Amino acid sequence: MVLFATTNAEKVREAQAYLESAVEHFDFDYLELQSESLSEIAIHGAQESFKAAGGNQPVITDDSGIFIDDLGGFPGPYSSYIYHTIGLSGILTLLGDSDSHRAYFRTAIAYCSEDETVAFEGSIRGTIVPPRGTEGFGYDPIFEYNGKTLAEMNLVEKNAISHRGRALSKLASWLDNDPVEHRGVK
Ligand code: IMP
Repeated sequence: MVLFATTNAEKVREAQAYLESAVEHFDFDYLELQSESLSEIAIHGAQESFKAAGGNQPVITDDSGIFIDDLGGFPGPYSSYIYHTIGLSGILTLLGDSDSHRAYFRTAIAYCSEDETVAFEGSIRGTIVPPRGTEGFGYDPIFEYNGKTLAEMNLVEKNAISHRGRALSKLASWLDNDPVEHRGVK
């Protein structure tokens, strides 16, 4: 059993659909470290959440961001702030008629237990497009991969190719194998 510390129930749904071991939502709003490294932010959050949950159950956290090539990687670690301020339409306005709408999504998942803290990263390259689709959350409607936006995919389809799915896959194989061999950021 692992606790997923987050205020975002959608992230928990994706992890529950992916991981075989049971994942329980720990609805906890940890203080976010200011850093350019998603793994550092996730690790800090996992350690704080592990203590807050009583220190006897493993905890995972997820920090994600969208990095747009023509905006120099913006909004990256500031994706949440930008989503809540200028939103998806603001991102499209910023991009205007720039040549490339290439971007990538990255997720860092940190795992913290009594013995160790480890982080796993996953990313996916795609294109920013006008919004399409009703599934998913956040930037999903404007992130296109192989002709479909993430919001046009169901949970299983998204997990199979997404940044979070890739990070979860690394976590899953690490949980199944020898943890001692795999410390640090993956
Ligand atoms: P955070 O990891 O919750 O800080 O996420 C940063 C921003 O990216 C928030 O606005 C999230 O809604 C958004 N976000 C995180 N993961 C995803 C995803 O899988 N798809 C679309 N948006 C996401």
